[in-house]
Amino acid sequence: MPLASSKDVLLKARAEGYAVGAFNLNNMEMAQAIVTAAEEEQSPVIIQASQGAIKYAGLEMITAMANVLADHASVPIVLHLDHGTDYKQNVKCLRAGFTSLMFDGHDLPLEENIAVTRKIVEIAHAVNLPVEAEIGSVLTIEGLLSDSEIAEIRAMNIPAQFEILRKKIGPTVEEHIARPEEAKRFVDETGVDFLAAAVGSVHGLWLDIWPLRVDRLQEIYEATNVPIVSHGSSGVLIRREDAEAKGVELAPGEGSLLDAIKVGYTKINVATALSMEFNKAMLASAEKRPGEKDPRKLLDPARKAVVAKTREYIRLFGSTGKAETAKSGSKEGLGGGMAKRGEE
Ligand code: G3H
Ligand code: ZN
Repeated sequence: MPLASSKDVLLKARAEGYAVGAFNLNNMEMAQAIVTAAEEEQSPVIIQASQGAIKYAGLEMITAMANVLADHASVPIVLHLDHGTDYKQNVKCLRAGFTSLMFDGHDLPLEENIAVTRKIVEIAHAVNLPVEAEIGSVLTIEGLLSDSEIAEIRAMNIPAQFEILRKKIGPTVEEHIARPEEAKRFVDETGVDFLAAAVGSVHGLWLDIWPLRVDRLQEIYEATNVPIVSHGSSGVLIRREDAEAKGVELAPGEGSLLDAIKVGYTKINVATALSMEFNKAMLASAEKRPGEKDPRKLLDPARKAVVAKTREYIRLFGSTGKAETAKSGSKEGLGGGMAKRGEE
């Protein structure tokens, strides 16, 4: 089937109380693995291209891969731009055939973030493309800690890792959380379809230990009534009941990823966890087969490992068996819009 619209997929998910995984592809094998996992789970899925992926493979290659994968898939596949840098890049992705856009203006003053986002929403909605935008800041672990600090922390046991992360990055994260009144103004004035609202997660964390400000997320969802996007999901504590064993003390208002899905998280972005899975399997094969001349012998196990990890996430998010997408159907319908654009 043709690439699907993130709006069709995410509005249905929100209405039914589950979330959809948005997995970053770094190469062909990861893209194939993500779609295979979605097929095996009969789940909709979003494959998304980061700035790094766009530099590495180029827009044309990414779009071609996504189209081929979607054409052969029996489940809805969305192609999304992750952390779009500006108006021009969004226009390029729109023209290239992406079916979901993003502008990340979190480091701009609010007025400017609103102005650029609104401009992108205008052109995107003219061809029935949905847009995500960011408010507050989802920080990046590499921007908060040095490589040697990260290596040192990673060598500790899990409770010790949590304790030190809490001390080192906890206060910084707090300052960057989105505010409900700003989020409402942002959505009202831009018309954006989904909101990447910062509620305490950090990009690039390696373990599921980091708590979210679920109270704030709920307020933001109630104020805006648009699906909320989780960035930096790899490091977030998945289940509240695992907190104690991991030495994670939840402060009032904090909760887990599964708590957050109940109150508004609908698109869950995962990058680091899949990349780590891929690398781990590839390196293990390289170790087992020193001198191997066929790269596919190292890449195939890595691809299989990503299928397994992606399936785990899909089941966790509750989208297994939800492949039947609510098509908007009307003239304004996003699914129909996509097909028409493709045919032109
Ligand atoms: O935009 C991509 C995500 O926010 C991924 O974050 O690498 O922490 O999973 P992650
Ligand atoms: Zn992100």
